[in-house]
Amino acid sequence: MTPPIPQGLLDSLCKAGHVVVLTGAGVSAESGVPTFRDAQSGLWARYQPEELATPEAFRRNPRLVWDWYTWRRELVAALQPNPGHYALAEMARYTHLTLITQNVDGLHQKAGSPEVIELHGNLQRVKCQEEDRVVESWGDQKEVPPRCPRCGGLLRPDVVWFGEALPQEALESAWAAAESCELFFSVGTSSQVQPAASLPYLAYDRGVPVIEINPNETTLTPYSAYFLRGRSGEILPELVRQAWRASSGSPSPESGLGIQ
Ligand code: OAD
Repeated sequence: MTPPIPQGLLDSLCKAGHVVVLTGAGVSAESGVPTFRDAQSGLWARYQPEELATPEAFRRNPRLVWDWYTWRRELVAALQPNPGHYALAEMARYTHLTLITQNVDGLHQKAGSPEVIELHGNLQRVKCQEEDRVVESWGDQKEVPPRCPRCGGLLRPDVVWFGEALPQEALESAWAAAESCELFFSVGTSSQVQPAASLPYLAYDRGVPVIEINPNETTLTPYSAYFLRGRSGEILPELVRQAWRASSGSPSPESGLGIQ
């Protein structure tokens, strides 16, 4: 049962001129994408991250790393957004929303979110290891990993590996949004991995209310103005319904009636 959403939060949400939402693996958990640190079904349960998600691992065994990402890419491509993703896509229709994600599954875009800042890249994209540029067409090559059609360098997933820097433009956009927003939501993230984990504190230090949505408390919880304990797939749709849809009388996108 979704906990009641404080009226103060609903009022602030409706009045806010700019809202930031930072999402983590928990938002995709209800779509069937394992989280990173969930011991039972964690993506890492089968592998040690150091074996696979590092530049060293790719240099050591490019085929193993490429094959693991191909498995992940195909796993995720078959999955659908859940009501939490759709609620965030709908929220962008009601307010100035900056959506920042640590997820690489592309489910926010699949749910219709118009703009997504991807701090850790996207599984569905590949890039040339030499040029560090995304490569669009590579699927018909037999060699594994395939090679860059421009320079012949190895292709690799366009995701951030452990020890790598985040995409500069994405990071700067996320930083700027955290520095200018009036509300900051942290949804489905353990708030452990830097620099994403610093973003809510940029808002907090400006006196901006931080709202956390998570079944479990995290290190961020003590700094949150509101801690909504529960699953994002239940709480986010309820938040949108109570903040906007109930007042505007418009049906939810899932109802198939759409919003004109
Ligand atoms: P984690 O696996 O560290 O944390 C997932 C969080 O989601 C936990 O706090 C769970 O309690 C919470 N959670 C689980 N189910 C949920 C649900 N239905 N609704 C809401 N929350 C739920 O994943 P992240 O915090 O995203 O980095 O991990 C951050 C980064 O660490 C990842 O992007 C990845 C990893 O290293 C890179 O790949 C570079």
